[in-house]
Amino acid sequence: MNRLADKYPQEIKQILERYPEGYKRSAVMPLLYLAQRETGYVSQEAMQEIGDLIGIAKTEVATIVGFYTLYHDSSSGKYRVQVCTDLPCALRGADQFLEKLCENLAVKVGETTPDGMVTVEEVKCLAGCFRAPMFQVQSGAGITYHENQTVESAMEVIDGLRQQAKGREGEAKE
Ligand code: FES
Repeated sequence: MNRLADKYPQEIKQILERYPEGYKRSAVMPLLYLAQRETGYVSQEAMQEIGDLIGIAKTEVATIVGFYTLYHDSSSGKYRVQVCTDLPCALRGADQFLEKLCENLAVKVGETTPDGMVTVEEVKCLAGCFRAPMFQVQSGAGITYHENQTVESAMEVIDGLRQQAKGREGEAKE
């Protein structure tokens, strides 16, 4: 029962109904959002299925997933820490910041910390160019932005996230 059509028949129908004939391809965004909702990423199978549903190639769907930092093609830790290293940020030391942050977390870019909490990703412009180094944190709870960062301040943010997650786990057990 992994097919989106089996899991969410009603929602898919409602999404597709919003778009007139000839414009179904515009449904790609809400369909991707739906596909990602449960697992936090869009599987290759789901990309194929979405492509079939709206009549575009899987590679086009994959391109959209690759373009937007809000869509993901692989699983992650509880938090995605996304560091912008686009040119304006790079000029303000984003590359070195990312390298040192990875060193501190003992991971490479794209990897997840052994506790399953943090996945570090390198992304393109997040519209905070003049306040680099900067990153955003994505999780099930939403997105937070962190600008004018040092590795130390970023580690404080990450420690805070870990504490938060532990607190929630504790509450869930009670
Ligand atoms: S280039 Fe990094 S936020 Fe714009």
